[in-house]
Amino acid sequence: MNSRSKKLLSAFRKEALSSPPFWFMRQAGRYLPEYRELRKNAKHFLDFCYTPSMACEATVQPIKRFAMDGAIIFSDILVIPDALGVSTRFEEKKGPVLEPVQTDEALNKLTLNTKVLLPVYEALKQTRATLPDETTLIGFAGAPWTLACYITQGQSSRDFQEARSISISKPEFFSRLIDMLTDAVSQHCIAQIKAGAEIIQIFDSWAGVLSEAQFHRWSIEPAKKIVKAIKDQYPDVPVIGFPRQAGVKTLEYVKKTGVDGINIDSSVTLQWAHEQLQSLCVVQGNLDPLVLAENKNEMLAQAKDILVTLAKKNFVFNLGHGILPHTPIENVHALCDLIRNYTQRP
Ligand code: CP3
Repeated sequence: MNSRSKKLLSAFRKEALSSPPFWFMRQAGRYLPEYRELRKNAKHFLDFCYTPSMACEATVQPIKRFAMDGAIIFSDILVIPDALGVSTRFEEKKGPVLEPVQTDEALNKLTLNTKVLLPVYEALKQTRATLPDETTLIGFAGAPWTLACYITQGQSSRDFQEARSISISKPEFFSRLIDMLTDAVSQHCIAQIKAGAEIIQIFDSWAGVLSEAQFHRWSIEPAKKIVKAIKDQYPDVPVIGFPRQAGVKTLEYVKKTGVDGINIDSSVTLQWAHEQLQSLCVVQGNLDPLVLAENKNEMLAQAKDILVTLAKKNFVFNLGHGILPHTPIENVHALCDLIRNYTQRP
């Protein structure tokens, strides 16, 4: 079987499809009992990510249950700071904890050690060999701005005010950091494609805290460079951008970066996405993960609205953000059935 039979890739070739392809962000994760079981085999989350057989198994788990059209490789955006030499770990209740980098001296010490990332590429190879032929393997990376948020602040935050302060008070330092990350992310994406990734998604999870000028400088410009670096070597591999919570700035992002697809969060209105974005690229999204977790009937009604407005063409069904750990599996099944059985009225 060749790539022509993969529904997710077909959508990016603008081919007509009876029902849209789908996958869900964080489709491998704690809402699955088999994931929680597998997770017990590694003490530290990064060890899990860096063990190819485990990362491969976690990637394939949701496909076995739900047969999504896309399988996103099990890894994390923070493997890049880790490979750059920023001490990175995950704590049970707190999330990521990094050694903050805020000075030129600290920045000068960072270099990309690609050896650290080899297990990610090995996991992609194994996963590509394991997946059913019709499933598309998705690689990913964090966008430079979002990575810089974690690298400068060292932990999660509601608004990353400290990261924004540094970007404003020390623009030269920050610009160097962003450039270093742009290079590292570009290399990581290209290496993932070499290892078997067929689509790349760039997660700019904290794009929404940036003003218009900052958004151009720290989100759009780096994304444009990453897309170009990928396309120079792999012009046919689709790149999906996800500038989360960017609102109307999403339109500029699509126009300037050259992405093939745009993931929209749940706050983006469907009609606006249809009118403004769908003529430019594939739209991916945007069911609210909280509705998926909390209320099956309401979820099905909202998923239908998404399908009616967006599924005609250039569309991939996904969520507005990752699946939440308390999501009932039954709700995910009901959503998959709805999407699969959907046929667009003429
Ligand atoms: O199924 C998939 O989506 C693939 C795997 C994946 C993970 N993280 C696994 C993970 C992907 C694509 C990510 C991306 C990621 N990681 C983002 C961008 C998307 C987003 O959520 O905005 C960000 C910001 C991170 C950083 C990160 N990783 C945080 C803040 C946390 C802690 C919060 C949490 O959910 O626990 C993680 C940990 C993490 N990454 C888990 C998983 C499954 C949970 C940890 C565990 O199982 O022990």
